[in-house]
Amino acid sequence: MNTWLFGYGSLVWRPNFPYLKRRIATIDGWSRRFWQGSTDHRGVPGAPGRVVTLVKDRRAVCRGCAYSIEDVARETVFGYLDIREKGGYSLEEVDITFPDEGGKVVKGLIYIAGPENPDWLGDASLDDIAHQICLSRGPSGANDQYVIELARALDEIGAEDEHVLGVSNRVLGLSSTNQA
Ligand code: BEZ
Repeated sequence: MNTWLFGYGSLVWRPNFPYLKRRIATIDGWSRRFWQGSTDHRGVPGAPGRVVTLVKDRRAVCRGCAYSIEDVARETVFGYLDIREKGGYSLEEVDITFPDEGGKVVKGLIYIAGPENPDWLGDASLDDIAHQICLSRGPSGANDQYVIELARALDEIGAEDEHVLGVSNRVLGLSSTNQA
């Protein structure tokens, strides 16, 4: 049996691994939040950026992309992602729904970073989150570019995410103020 991996952050626009199928998908009971600190990609130790994780939210539905990974590639793909996403993330099993396939549900995996991990930053106002993002940069580039890529990729798959839009609009506003 192949493995489904649900992506809600950078995996939506940059999977960078071989997969058999990519499908727009949703998971129930989770919200995407810029609550995870990034000290290895979009920030550095002592000056973390902010990247998305998922938090439990009973009434929420999170839209993203699901990738079907072939059994023979499983070890290589998850070995690669476990290193790439090592900053506090671990795998958890979820039910993944395919809205375009009559609501079909399959078991799959998500990478999630919770409050117990050392890079966790947690809640803050949208203004504070946007300010921190605009000041942050790490080995994978500027934190504001991550936000802009994510907002663009979510728009492409028809995901309306109020939190991401709130942060990305503020980031765009701050970037244009800084360039003026
Ligand atoms: C994702 O896009 O699903 C993802 C986000 C953060 C870490 C690992 C995966």
